[in-house]
Amino acid sequence: MKRVSLFITLVLVFSLFAFGGILDTIKARGYLVMGTNATFPPFESFNTQNEVVGFDVDIGKAIAAKLGVTLRVVDFAFDGLIPALQADKFDIILAGMTITEERKKVVLFSDPYFDAGQVIVVRKGYKHFTDVAELANEKVAVQMGTTGDLMATEVAGIVLTRFPHFTEALMELALRRVNAVVIDSSTADAYVDFNPNLEVGSPVLSAESYGAAIKKGNEELLDFVNQVLKELKTSPYEAMLEAWF
Ligand code: ARG
Repeated sequence: MKRVSLFITLVLVFSLFAFGGILDTIKARGYLVMGTNATFPPFESFNTQNEVVGFDVDIGKAIAAKLGVTLRVVDFAFDGLIPALQADKFDIILAGMTITEERKKVVLFSDPYFDAGQVIVVRKGYKHFTDVAELANEKVAVQMGTTGDLMATEVAGIVLTRFPHFTEALMELALRRVNAVVIDSSTADAYVDFNPNLEVGSPVLSAESYGAAIKKGNEELLDFVNQVLKELKTSPYEAMLEAWF
């Protein structure tokens, strides 16, 4: 009898490891791994202590805390994030990543957590733009693989340079090697605040929403993330109203 119960216990313990879902795997490991590209303030950037900080990091921390684990942030090239997620290098991408139909073919996206759009950043005093099509014949820099890259790529006659990091694209602009950078609006504002020689030279040119990306098959993690996002978006007051009325 003893032997049988020992056997059953072993089978149960073993099956927990063998068949446990992604949430059990993360809990057993003790940390959640978030992939990002930390040249995207205020969502993710390096502080002076060389830590990645920002809105996305705080969302990652909230998800990790609900799982009872810590958060590890991995800085990666933006256009390599999805392949690395597929290769299990991270559990989740939080990188101000726009939910697009193309990306939805290969990853799961959480509910949207931030509304965004592209703008054109220029050196102060340079001409302004009202439409992306006006970038024809302009020298423009973008971050490789971003929605800004896609948008600029469609402009016939554009002279486009793609960089792994936004910092490099904006450096190129400051150094007068290009005349415009297509970049997400909130991040443009953050960079312009720090660089008095640059300004936003267009209205917001697209309507995009950011979502957390999760590997297909990890629906359990997706549901969990959506639950956490919902809780973050709902104030305690709203939750009380919902509970009592
Ligand atoms: N929202 C844009 C996109 O999804 C740019 C995101 C860039 N994010 C970053 N962490 N560098 O393509």
